[in-house]
Amino acid sequence: VKLAILGGSFDPVHVGHLFLADAALCALAYDRIILIPAFQSPFKAGVENATSRDRLEMLASSIAGDPRLTIDDCEIRREGVSYTIDTLKDIIERYKPDGKPGLIIGDDLVSTFDQWHSPEEIASLADVIIARRLSGTSEGCVTGNFPYPHINLANEIMSISSSQIREKIGRNENWRYLVPAGARHLIKEKRLYGLPASPDGETILDDTVSDNIDLTGTIVRLENEVRAILSFEKFSHSRNTALLAWDLCRRFGLDCQKGYLAGISHDICKAMDKSELIRLAQKDGGSISKLERHKSGLLHGRAGAVVLARKYGVTDKEVLDAVRYHTTGNWDMNALAKVIYVADKIEISRHDVDPALRKMSRNSDLDALFRAVLKEAVSFLKSKQVDISYGTRRLLVAMQKRNES
Ligand SMILES: [Fe+2]
Ligand SMILES: [Fe+2]
Repeated sequence: VKLAILGGSFDPVHVGHLFLADAALCALAYDRIILIPAFQSPFKAGVENATSRDRLEMLASSIAGDPRLTIDDCEIRREGVSYTIDTLKDIIERYKPDGKPGLIIGDDLVSTFDQWHSPEEIASLADVIIARRLSGTSEGCVTGNFPYPHINLANEIMSISSSQIREKIGRNENWRYLVPAGARHLIKEKRLYGLPASPDGETILDDTVSDNIDLTGTIVRLENEVRAILSFEKFSHSRNTALLAWDLCRRFGLDCQKGYLAGISHDICKAMDKSELIRLAQKDGGSISKLERHKSGLLHGRAGAVVLARKYGVTDKEVLDAVRYHTTGNWDMNALAKVIYVADKIEISRHDVDPALRKMSRNSDLDALFRAVLKEAVSFLKSKQVDISYGTRRLLVAMQKRNES
């Protein structure tokens, strides 16, 4: 295995680190890069710095699934100041790489390389790879008169640094996409680098409180699945339904994540054929009505709820009911189900939506909005002389009764 080494504080790891590692892998035909976080004095670890354990965990979660990257904690275990020559010998001894390992250093270190411990020995044991960090010449690194054999990596410079990111986090400025998702979760969960507590109502999918991390994972999995299964148009409809559901949930004080989850997955069975829909819908224990058998498309809500529960382990009854009833409605719909019913009908990519309904979605209460959208849907069905499902009819009767009382 051909190895290269990339050291750093990784406090925190950021996309620039991974971008550089990737560039070296692609340009220089290494099989794997070992990321080696430097030891930092625990006395230094305060608000501004993360502990070694947290730095390692951030790294590990950021490279999950990428077999070309690995982490070695030798410098952290060694404690104190680590000399590159010691690390290099240690890595060669333990990993026994094919050929000389690469040693990636930034061109900002070139001018002081002479003052490192045993620079000649380093240069003889490793292929020194000089990566661009300073904006020197357009094609090469700032190598000056670096007297040792070396390879110039013509990487693109990303002008981000861990210290910048730490400052941004501490000041609560936007730093979200500078750090890989895994590390980001950890920073939020542990409030590293003095990340201020989120203000009330701050709701971004990924900013979940920790007990909802499972839900976030399910959402991402489902969103990928829906994008793969449905046409791009249908996927866009699903995503826009999810976004509107999110906004409506926020406005009505409901769980935004559940709204997004139900919205993104409500049409997950939309592309299935009749026999598949009937087979799945039957698993919810209900019977298949004559109308449903005739117009099997109506079953994609029921089938969707079955798929969510059985394949994706969704157990939340509100979410399952919202998906189940989004096609026909039902007399005992919960608030989330009403939100999904509405969002599905009036989301932004749907044409021919009465602008008055969209306006209501911004200013009226949920029940009035739901009634208006349902009324529109039913009058549309009537205009087409389409049979109205049992669920919808029961819903209409129930609503009439409520109005009378
Ligand atoms: Fe649907
Ligand atoms: Fe839909």
